[in-house]
Amino acid sequence: MEKREQLYEGKAKKVYKTDDPELYIVSYKDDATAFDGQKKGTIVGKGVVNNRMSNYLMRLLEKAGVPTHYVQELNDRETVVKKVSIVPLEVIIRNISAGSFAKRYGVEEGIVFDAPTIEFSYKNDELHDPLINAYHARALKLATAGEIETIKSLAFKVNDTLKAYFLSLGVKLVDFKLEFGRLSDGSIVLADEISPDTCRFWDAETNEKLDKDRFRRDLGGVEDAYREMMKRVLGE
Ligand code: TMP
Repeated sequence: MEKREQLYEGKAKKVYKTDDPELYIVSYKDDATAFDGQKKGTIVGKGVVNNRMSNYLMRLLEKAGVPTHYVQELNDRETVVKKVSIVPLEVIIRNISAGSFAKRYGVEEGIVFDAPTIEFSYKNDELHDPLINAYHARALKLATAGEIETIKSLAFKVNDTLKAYFLSLGVKLVDFKLEFGRLSDGSIVLADEISPDTCRFWDAETNEKLDKDRFRRDLGGVEDAYREMMKRVLGE
């Protein structure tokens, strides 16, 4: 499978057409941004970690019954995925308070919730990805009621699967962001990536941060954290 015309370049990935109209190739970059692209940098090796880790997790989720866009890993940075049209919602699940939740509601980080929370942001850079509820999403015709129900139940299933999996690696899955897409037949699949860019991972013993918060908050040891997560997931 070979790359054809580039369709899109995002902050962390490029997407290419292939000779199969139903398949795309994504190519992961080392570029990192935070706070709506205001903070920019490079995390050396990030593209490799995110590509390989995300593919591993997508395969795990497929086995658990979650349909995904994953097709085949081509090399360290490139993967064949099914063509989707992205539902313009960022779906965020939280198990422990952190980040914008702690800030918005004036609570400390690290409170373990009795039950996971879900929230949606409208994926729109000009509007800075505002929080939105399911009714707003329907009013804006971002998704149908049925699609929102499917997305919610898949997102909680992803959480159940990944929370238990990461705990077995000595990692707390604090929160994460998912994106979903529509295949040509209209069915909903998990898309985008699952990586230290899109999840908060805390070491289960020490609570050390093993994710992009090290970059966002200038904590140092960014590359080491990504490498450590790759080692725990892929054993290398
Ligand atoms: P938040 O606490 O800043 O709202 O982030 C919640 C989770 O979503 C966290 O694991 C990081 C992830 N995330 C993204 O993947 N992309 C984003 O643009 C933002 C703001 C958060």
